[in-house]
Amino acid sequence: MDINKIRKDTRGLEDGKIFLNNAGSSLMPDLVTDAMIDYLKSEEYSGGYHIANVNADILEEFYDETAKLINAKADNIAFATSATEAYAKALSSIVFKEGDVIITTADDYISNQITFISLHKKLGVKVMRMKNLPDCELDLEDLEHLIKIYHPKLLAVTHIPTNSGLIQNVEAVGKICKKHDILYLVDACQSVGQMVVDVEKIGCDFLTATGRKFLRGPRGTGFLYVSDRILEQEYAPLLLDMRGANWTEYDDYKLFTTAKRFEHWEISYASMLGLKHAIRYANEVGMEPVEKYNRNLSQKLRNNLKDSGFDVWDLGNRLSSIVTFSGPDGDLENIQKVLKENNVYFSVAYKNSALIDFTNKNINGIVRLSPHYFNTIEEIERVSEILERSLK
Ligand SMILES: Cc1ncc(COP(=O)(O)O)c(C=O)c1O
Repeated sequence: MDINKIRKDTRGLEDGKIFLNNAGSSLMPDLVTDAMIDYLKSEEYSGGYHIANVNADILEEFYDETAKLINAKADNIAFATSATEAYAKALSSIVFKEGDVIITTADDYISNQITFISLHKKLGVKVMRMKNLPDCELDLEDLEHLIKIYHPKLLAVTHIPTNSGLIQNVEAVGKICKKHDILYLVDACQSVGQMVVDVEKIGCDFLTATGRKFLRGPRGTGFLYVSDRILEQEYAPLLLDMRGANWTEYDDYKLFTTAKRFEHWEISYASMLGLKHAIRYANEVGMEPVEKYNRNLSQKLRNNLKDSGFDVWDLGNRLSSIVTFSGPDGDLENIQKVLKENNVYFSVAYKNSALIDFTNKNINGIVRLSPHYFNTIEEIERVSEILERSLK
């Protein structure tokens, strides 16, 4: 990876900030915003329908680039306006009835947990969470045990939780789902763009992602992967529109064959184009070197923070580029002040966003730093020094 070139490709880095909020909303490469602005300008002059027709082939490349990123086929990809929209569409395609069981994890994303609770309240679906082992890894024996007793309809796992450095063993869960023929939904919102994500290896039926985080795309974008077996079984969102089906009879329709049936007809094509460019950029840099580079940055940062006396809260055997920590007596305020004064971009999360995890860790919140491949080891050292000095 040519870090100098990558940094030059990113105007957002020109003012000397240290940008470490890639798990929140990253900096787009220049070509992403340039392509979007050009596209909007052409809409301004000719209207959106004409411009979408003229650019049909270029827009279609979004599906090829996304498929390449996660080792799928273009027909398995749907554009979405966010990871949450993709997740809701996937869930809505499953016909839940009272007593059906969803098994998830204690570390799944806040919005997923709220959605499951809503399914419980509205439809009487039972929500269970598999146990964690003492080292924070998923307890797969417990999972097999729960499956044998409850015969779940769906297993849902967040690959990388938003507020902890943990990387969940989604491949092992995938094998168990296959063995027991259970639907499998993976939230890869924080892993796509950060590391290699391969839907064949994971063995999932649905996988959701957002554009604006480690993928470095625009806000208001994301995607959904839908496996062949799900498409063949005619799964489709509950509230379909004309993007999903052909209206063939007064009282009937015929579903379209590809994952596009999970889209809505109206979307921002400028945003889709921006996401295509961001994904193409990620494909060109290559996810293997990105994963390796990010692991080095985050390990260095964690070690420095621990050595300086901060409490680092990332537990698990494989850790991601999400580094979470707090200061003496759980301090978050002083850390935020110092980072802001030094033009370091970060985010903070409080207890309700990771209710189970933070309760278990007995903390009220964390500061999150999330380095990415345009960051340098010098930046990591500088931030570590700034934080160490703040303790003296
Ligand atoms: C793990 C995880 N899943 C899902 C989401 C939701 O993504 P979006 O805001 O694009 O819907 C987030 C956002 O922070 C996340 O971290």
